[in-house]
Amino acid sequence: MRYVIISDIHGNWAALEAVRDMLPSLLPDGVLFLGDYVTDGSDPQRVLRNLREIQEEYPCSLILGNREEYFLKNRYHPDPSWQPCSHTGSLWYTARHLTEKDLDWFATLPVSKVIHPAEGMDFMICHGSPLSACDSMLGRKNKERREQMVRSIQQDLPGI
Ligand SMILES: [Fe+2]
Repeated sequence: MRYVIISDIHGNWAALEAVRDMLPSLLPDGVLFLGDYVTDGSDPQRVLRNLREIQEEYPCSLILGNREEYFLKNRYHPDPSWQPCSHTGSLWYTARHLTEKDLDWFATLPVSKVIHPAEGMDFMICHGSPLSACDSMLGRKNKERREQMVRSIQQDLPGI
């Protein structure tokens, strides 16, 4: 099985289109997108259009990133700190370039997903942790939490 794994596009439509152009030569069995599709880049709609088109061309699995989670939270509880400034300007700008339909789609994305390849072992994909896109499993301070997560994944995926 050959998967192409794409994560943290962060609005970089030019990079996404460059990778998209490479997909036919990579002959993937599937494309896995690990979240953070928007923010930081200039054209979130162009990124989302590319994602929709890639899903028509290849079997894809997409999960939620923390950035998408921010917009879902902001939908009903607008964050007043999002302003046209250098600190939060990207969130402010992107929020104004997303539609209700985009937010509805974000709401359908799972936080994690178990992939069942036709050959080989099952595996899980997530952006932050299996429980939250906003989690971090990196760093020394998260060692205990990371080990707890791994134990829970092993319960879900006994073959790992
Ligand atoms: Fe992220």
